Amino acid sequence: MTPRSFLLTPELADYVRAVSEPVDDVVDDLLAETAALAARGEASPTYQIAPEQGAFMQLFTRAVGARRAIEIGTFTGFSALCIARGLPEDGSLLCLDRSAEWTAVARRYWERAGLADRIEVRLGEALPTLRALPAEDAFDLAFVDADKTGYAAYVEELYARMTDNGVVLLDNTLRGGRVLDPQDEDDVALAELNRGLAADPRWETVLLPVSDGLTVLRRR
Ligand SMILES: C[S@@+](CC[C@H](N)C(=O)[O-])C[C@H]1O[C@@H](n2cnc3c(N)ncnc32)[C@H](O)[C@@H]1O
Repeated sequence: MTPRSFLLTPELADYVRAVSEPVDDVVDDLLAETAALAARGEASPTYQIAPEQGAFMQLFTRAVGARRAIEIGTFTGFSALCIARGLPEDGSLLCLDRSAEWTAVARRYWERAGLADRIEVRLGEALPTLRALPAEDAFDLAFVDADKTGYAAYVEELYARMTDNGVVLLDNTLRGGRVLDPQDEDDVALAELNRGLAADPRWETVLLPVSDGLTVLRRR
């Protein structure tokens, strides 16, 4: 099953895709390979961002003029591919993920898309990796899509690492609607984070109802 915005009916999700930037063969094949992984029970069917979110993130990356980007939670590389496509030729994307297996799939598609030279993967636990980056490593764009209970620490760590006006995107901030009635620790973590960010004067915050909720934070 292709991931879709949970607020949309399947028919509306098809419509949204039909009138948005089309996906090419590389993305088509990546979506199919990832869906097969999920069908075999080797990955969650909800991991990958929806195609329309990918199209948005590619456009957004270009529109904000990001040159240096970081992603926390890469999986088989679809969101990274979209961000990398939005970067200029001399731009770079640093991907943090603990799975060698899934990021190996990602690398094959980045190579096919001619993007491999813009993307670097650091394998391991994301938080210590992020904390170990040199202080002068600054990012124009960050995308967070890893363990939900880690989001608050990632946001805190990213604050000092974003350029002025740098933008952080947080995925799954609606948790399928369960932020209204949290069912597990991931839901609780994001409900608390959403509440905290809304009151945090360091960030300008908007939660967009794109796919499973995409929060946009701009460092003031
Ligand atoms: C939801 S998937 C990312 C999906 C990806 N953004 C996409 O659109 O295809 C989450 C990824 O985060 C990674 N991950 C989860 N917790 C992590 C952690 N603490 N440190 C590093 N990677 C982590 C998992 O290995 C997985 O690949």
